[in-house]
Amino acid sequence: MMHGQEFVDWYHRKFVNSYPKSVWPTVYNDHRALVHVIEKFDVKTILEIGTWQGWTALLMWLHPNVEALTTVDIHKDMNIPYDHAIHHLQDKSFYGEYCKFTPVKQVFQDSMTLTEDIGHFDMVFVEGNHDYEHCKHDTELALRIADKVVAWHDVWNIDTVAQVVGYVPDCYLVAGTLVAYKPMKDKPRQEIMFGDEKIYVGIDNQIPIVDKT
Ligand SMILES: C[S@@+](CC[C@H](N)C(=O)[O-])C[C@H]1O[C@@H](n2cnc3c(N)ncnc32)[C@H](O)[C@@H]1O
Repeated sequence: MMHGQEFVDWYHRKFVNSYPKSVWPTVYNDHRALVHVIEKFDVKTILEIGTWQGWTALLMWLHPNVEALTTVDIHKDMNIPYDHAIHHLQDKSFYGEYCKFTPVKQVFQDSMTLTEDIGHFDMVFVEGNHDYEHCKHDTELALRIADKVVAWHDVWNIDTVAQVVGYVPDCYLVAGTLVAYKPMKDKPRQEIMFGDEKIYVGIDNQIPIVDKT
């Protein structure tokens, strides 16, 4: 059974290498970081907010530890009163395309309407609309329903995401990537005072960063 870098290399050889890198959203080292988080926290169930084409959902679902994955995105025909985040200019007919023949559960819903009714998951991966209000909403929800870990993408390259994630206590940045995570297990659930105090407890240097351009 493959794990860690061997698993990510296999996935990238099999599914990614033909993909145009200019539109690849979550790149190799970020995938390494997510797999690191899945293994570190023994994650078996995942909620991803923000499917896009489903590449990262496919990666996470294929990981041997993962038993179930639910991923949420808006539907291409959904009429929502705000921009669709960073992929608003791209073809929306492919949402979830790359996991549609897998048991990944695709939910078409505006994340702003998601509540705790969606259930609990070992890990919630927040990568939906990158606006401040959406990221804050999705983060607050994630912190209530994740039992082991919450992870985010684009944590320092997009200001609005940085403004939210930067205020989540006890967050770790995975060195050399756009991924941060917060361990949930055995931690009291905290109400977060956004804008009150900025704390990153550390940098996680545990994965070897590879220059794979
Ligand atoms: C950065 S992409 C997600 C990339 C994906 N996680 C991956 O790694 O391939 C952000 C996604 O969030 C979706 N999104 C934007 N606003 C949303 C909303 N209000 N509710 C749910 N999804 C939303 C967009 O349609 C887009 O597909």
